[in-house]
Amino acid sequence: MFLEAGLLTRRSVRQFEAGRKIPHSDIEDLLKIAMYAPSGCNRQPWEFVVVEDEKVKEKITEIHPHASFLKDASAAIVVCGDTNQELDENFWVVDTSAAVENLLLAIHGKGLGGCWCAIYPYEDRMKAFQNLLGLPENVKPNALVVVGYPVKTPPQPKDRFKPEKIHYNKW
Ligand SMILES: Cc1cc2nc3c(=O)[nH]c(=O)nc-3n(C[C@H](O)[C@H](O)[C@H](O)COP(=O)(O)O)c2cc1C
Repeated sequence: MFLEAGLLTRRSVRQFEAGRKIPHSDIEDLLKIAMYAPSGCNRQPWEFVVVEDEKVKEKITEIHPHASFLKDASAAIVVCGDTNQELDENFWVVDTSAAVENLLLAIHGKGLGGCWCAIYPYEDRMKAFQNLLGLPENVKPNALVVVGYPVKTPPQPKDRFKPEKIHYNKW
């Protein structure tokens, strides 16, 4: 399958149709694709917390300094990693980051919009999300993915291909 067109047109979306909810069947389709990401020794250490409750969404905008646009979005998906399931120390970060990228591409592929908002590596943010969502100590939040119905199609990305960043055989 040739996916290039979809991969090159994904952009972060930060404006959403307020009040429009994504059906759970679609949320699960998205998370299925996230769960097909590669992971160290195929440990799949990810866990996902889907937040739709308006009060919890509002609290998230209070603890995350760059996610005010969550208010109009359908949901926040907090992508977490379980340190009891990871291959080796800190693999949870790389494994769950691969899942986040899969999730963003799935969101784009479904005609929805999404934005990755950093939780890791900010310790204060990680702690605040752990408290708010009642995560166990071994479950670490990596990213907040804001998802919803986009108000408009975001502009195409500028050409990001930089051949000078490619190094064959040695630097
Ligand atoms: C690790 C990471 C953290 C990010 N955190 C935020 C954030 O907190 N708030 C936000 O609005 N965008 C955030 N972004 C989105 C970036 O700003 C965006 O991906 C970048 O500007 C490129 O634009 P594009 O996604 O439209 O291609 C983050 C992206 C990554 C990969």
